Amino acid sequence: MKITCLDKLWQEGRDFLGVRFPILCGAMTWISDSSLVKAVSDQGGFASLAAGNMPGEMLSAEIEKCLTQSDRPFGVNLVTIAPNFPEHKEAVLQSKAPIVIFAGNFPKRQDVEEMKEAGKRVLSFASTDSIAAQMVRFGVDALILEGSEAGGHIGHVSTMILLQQVLFHKPDVPIFVGGGIATGRMVANMLLMGAAGVQMGTRFVMSEECHAHPNLKARFVRARAREAMSTPAYDKRLPVVAVRALKNKSTEAFGELQLELMRKMNAGEVNRIEAQLEVENFWMGGLRKAVIDGDVDHGSCMAGQCVGLVDKIQPMREIFAELITDAEAELERVKARLG
Ligand SMILES: Cc1cc2nc3c(=O)[nH]c(=O)nc-3n(C[C@H](O)[C@H](O)[C@H](O)COP(=O)(O)O)c2cc1C
Repeated sequence: MKITCLDKLWQEGRDFLGVRFPILCGAMTWISDSSLVKAVSDQGGFASLAAGNMPGEMLSAEIEKCLTQSDRPFGVNLVTIAPNFPEHKEAVLQSKAPIVIFAGNFPKRQDVEEMKEAGKRVLSFASTDSIAAQMVRFGVDALILEGSEAGGHIGHVSTMILLQQVLFHKPDVPIFVGGGIATGRMVANMLLMGAAGVQMGTRFVMSEECHAHPNLKARFVRARAREAMSTPAYDKRLPVVAVRALKNKSTEAFGELQLELMRKMNAGEVNRIEAQLEVENFWMGGLRKAVIDGDVDHGSCMAGQCVGLVDKIQPMREIFAELITDAEAELERVKARLG
């Protein structure tokens, strides 16, 4: 694979992450374990280990596996709103994991400082321009700027807008862009716009090495972009955490549940707290149901809109080769167009 243009454009990302290709495989709960970390690292990409809500000792063991199976750097993704977050933080602080990635809402200044004092490099997700600015003030070393096209928990602003609000203003830290990226051609264009690299999730679910249930992968193969929908939410009395997932029986039932709860609240049959609890409990265990049990009708089939851009399951080696060849070709095309 001949790489010339890409190496010029993504030098900052390569140096920052310490990998050959600054293409991040975003952490995915129940999916991004040490084996997926190895599969991505082996191809020269940057992998994330998902803490999800696993017990602290399990996270420590997974970090240890990542450290012994390869000497390539990787990130540990901590969800700040997970009940086990304090244990996860401790597990990372006690480990030799080089990079931590804060996700799910955003970290406190103290979380960032503790990690930096322990010698870790810190990345944080940013889903709005104000979160991006706040994270830079808190001292993070880089941002993952992620638009609402992405799979999993999302903000409300699209990648297209975030690029103009944040990336184009060249904040002081490297920016990795995620949400809606699945092709090499798009990787190239993100780099041209100033990204240090990109993050993808949905495309990597479609790798042979990803251990997600075959039913989920088959559903991804068939899915169209418009089927990857943000969770329905109708009433401010019933706050809903926005998640992008494929439409199925459960997404429909979730909409119906909210309408029924609104009716009951208006009639005084349930109070707001009871109703809210029902909403919060609805998706409990939903991602596991889809990813591990393969119940794609009732589980939470988290997927980005770029699910409509990918229609086959490929070995990780082939995915990286395709991304890089297509990105390099796009840059050659741009060069030719500019004469
Ligand atoms: C099935 C699934 C599970 C995910 N779980 C997590 C997670 O646990 N933590 C996290 O920070 N992001 C999570 N994400 C988001 C990805 O890490 C990544 O940022 C996102 O998929 C990028 O957008 P894309 O889907 O358009 O490629 C998840 C995404 C998917 C598709």
